Amino acid sequence: MAKIVLISGSTRRDSLNNAVLATVRHILAELPGDHESVLLPVAGLPFYEAGLELADGSAAVRAAKELVAGADALFISTPSYNGEMPGALKNALDWLSRPGGRSPLTGKVTAVASASPGARGALDAQPGLVGVLGRCGALVVEHEPVAVGGVSVPAGADGRYTDPEIVARLESLTRALVAELSHLGESAEVLV
Ligand code: FNR
Repeated sequence: MAKIVLISGSTRRDSLNNAVLATVRHILAELPGDHESVLLPVAGLPFYEAGLELADGSAAVRAAKELVAGADALFISTPSYNGEMPGALKNALDWLSRPGGRSPLTGKVTAVASASPGARGALDAQPGLVGVLGRCGALVVEHEPVAVGGVSVPAGADGRYTDPEIVARLESLTRALVAELSHLGESAEVLV
């Protein structure tokens, strides 16, 4: 069973990026193999503060770190706020990046997508996000950028996109994520 944690860069209830993740969740359920997907909301985390970290004082942070540490992979979808990921997502990644070098992000296979109502689909937020993930030791899946643009919140009850073009691009990225996991699994078997 592969456990995949889904992280939206948005804290908005009717978020387009939540809709992207609902679509990915559906894709994962349909793919061959056993995949469990779990959402990690970034809104409940306190602002990073070194004293709080030293005291291990936040239950929300402990739960988030445990969830990511126990995951095989991450799928992150972000909006662009003035050309970067929102602060709430950066804050979550800062928490998850601790302690440096042996954090829950170290070696974590991660797929990155973005969405916005604008035509470019928040593509401009992706390089910054990929850069932060790389710096934290995450293994970002190589794939052409998937930026879902010119969209509104999907009308369906389960909140996912059904437009074939959007689904195909998200499925391609999701398949690349799952393939990377299988590839890493095979390499680990060879090393044993
Ligand atoms: C935005 N938005 C935005 N959109 C964009 O395409 N490029 C940008 O630089 C920005 N900048 C920006 C800054 C701030 C502070 C806000 C609040 C919004 C619009 C943004 O993409 C839009 O609100 C999305 O719908 C947010 O994503 P969710 O919440 O729908 O996932």
